[in-house]
Amino acid sequence: MKKTIEDVNVQGKKVLVRVDFNVPMDKETGTKITDENRILGALPTIKYLVDHKAAVILCSHMGKPHNVFNDTLKLNKKEKAKIDALPAQEQEAATAAALEKAKKDVKKLSLAPVAARLSELLGQEVIMAKDVIGPDAQAKAAALQPGQVMVLENLRFHAEEEKNDPAFAKALAGYAELYVNDAFGTAHRAHASTAGVADYLPAVSGYLIEKELKFMGGALENPQRPFVAILGGAKVSSKIGVITNLIDKVDALVIGGGMAYTFAKAQGGSVGDSLLEEDKIELSREIMEKAQAKGVKFLLPIDTVIADDFSNDANSKVVPTGEIPAGWQGMDIGPETQKLFAETIKGAKTVVWNGPMGVFEFPNFAKGTIAVAEALAQADCISIVGGGDSAAAVTQLGFADKISHISTGGGASLEFLEGKTLPGVAALNDK
Ligand code: 3PG
Repeated sequence: MKKTIEDVNVQGKKVLVRVDFNVPMDKETGTKITDENRILGALPTIKYLVDHKAAVILCSHMGKPHNVFNDTLKLNKKEKAKIDALPAQEQEAATAAALEKAKKDVKKLSLAPVAARLSELLGQEVIMAKDVIGPDAQAKAAALQPGQVMVLENLRFHAEEEKNDPAFAKALAGYAELYVNDAFGTAHRAHASTAGVADYLPAVSGYLIEKELKFMGGALENPQRPFVAILGGAKVSSKIGVITNLIDKVDALVIGGGMAYTFAKAQGGSVGDSLLEEDKIELSREIMEKAQAKGVKFLLPIDTVIADDFSNDANSKVVPTGEIPAGWQGMDIGPETQKLFAETIKGAKTVVWNGPMGVFEFPNFAKGTIAVAEALAQADCISIVGGGDSAAAVTQLGFADKISHISTGGGASLEFLEGKTLPGVAALNDK
């Protein structure tokens, strides 16, 4: 068990809190937050620290700003190589244009809009630093009073963050007397702010990480049964780690989305022009054999909505899975499968869901994903939705409050479900 903020004295202390404020922003303006779940997820920890009179220094990354090095705009190696390959007389103008574009892109990756929204949510001023370990952040952190909150600029404006550079980690640690990690979404990264900093400060978890571990860890270690995992998404290869880990734990494994076609092919079916990973057919066969040997129910779609083109307006029809003609591709689970999956969910006591059932971004092929979300919202069970598209689906459909836990992690929840140790959790102090 890891120590949490309740296990240490925070009163009057300067506390460095790693949060995951990597929230999606409106692409045009770069200032409008389109999904604030990660900010909401961090609020309980921030409020606890404010209420207990800690001076709260928040830090996070936003996106992948690979054109900023130590707060200085500089073209990265790839872009520089492209320009170097141009005729000499074109290089100066191309460099200026690339830097101008980079400047705009980087502005969109500032955490200032997040700090502004956080201020509204907390109902108090949130001080925004202009840099990360530069003079502005240093002065503002030094002046920060108990009960006040500040946000450092995007950690990834320093290449040292992702390199887990010890000097950078030490500089971050220098702001505070205690480190709290509440960035579950980034806990699978061994970066300076998620792992390295714990070498220099007492390190505990916040409420969000604690909650994520409680729900997902509880499901993996001691689930109420029947325990059902529903896995979707495009590729078998991206879910293979999760399938291998869960097959030893679940009572039923339900497969939908693009990866179902590789399994259907392994069963000898025709999948037409559907997504297919030829090199995973044998592996898919082995997985199904393993499930059978272990007595794990393995459910594939029984019918499929197919289309003659990969577009929302394509012609479509429903066919039995494994009977998809050439020139057609699977786009969603069919109505009989929706019923079958909903029944399976209804009979479960614990359900973990990760990955959409079809091409959810096309409204005409979103019905399967919506049906699973609906069944989960109605079910009388512990329901856990892994991050990414399935989390977005339940939230968009307004079912969020009917789900026991929606993870704020995409890659992190996937790695957790794969049974991997998350570096951001491993770095924290044990109780
Ligand atoms: C995420 O969005 O999954 C986390 O914020 C981690 O981001 P990363 O994949 O850029 O490390």
